[in-house]
Amino acid sequence: MSSKPVSNDAKRSNKQPFLTDVKTLRERARQHIDDGAVTEGYGGDTETAVKVLNTALATEIICVLRYKRHYFMARGIHSAPVAAEFLEHAGDEQEHADRIAERIVQLGGEPDFAPDGLSSRSHSEYVEGNSLVDMIKEDLVAERIAIDSYREMIRYFASFDSTTRTMLEEITATEEEHADDLADLLQNLPRDLTN
Ligand SMILES: [Fe+2]
Ligand SMILES: [Fe+2]
Repeated sequence: MSSKPVSNDAKRSNKQPFLTDVKTLRERARQHIDDGAVTEGYGGDTETAVKVLNTALATEIICVLRYKRHYFMARGIHSAPVAAEFLEHAGDEQEHADRIAERIVQLGGEPDFAPDGLSSRSHSEYVEGNSLVDMIKEDLVAERIAIDSYREMIRYFASFDSTTRTMLEEITATEEEHADDLADLLQNLPRDLTN
């Protein structure tokens, strides 16, 4: 079941042309979760768990790259506070990537840092954005996608792996803060820039 914020996001997604194909991205997020077999001991299928976490790792790496690009390319008189936010978010996403990679190893898997196929493993996209407003909007889209896919993962891990579930809940809380920060930045920019 979708919670209220998810359905609100979906509604907004359908209205705005700059949005990426959220449906496809979400289907991709669900792909590995659906084929999860349950085993004894761990209580889940570690192979599937590692696959799921590797998609999260790819998502975080793409987010680091996108925020770094936006940080270095932010221009204009309103750019300073926005660029500072981009840089802070890049650091948070890197921290998330590290936590996820560490958990993959704990589960007996291997974190996938291969650059080939990175963007297709990721739930969110690497969009450069032409203007400060475009960048903020693309980052907001990416955060919403990340939040939705993390919620799915949390539901998947809930019944058999409380350590991973807790980690993902903490990461999701940060993504929600990121989304709020970006929404605030958009609101505080002059009207002529955001229309
Ligand atoms: Fe993140
Ligand atoms: Fe984020």
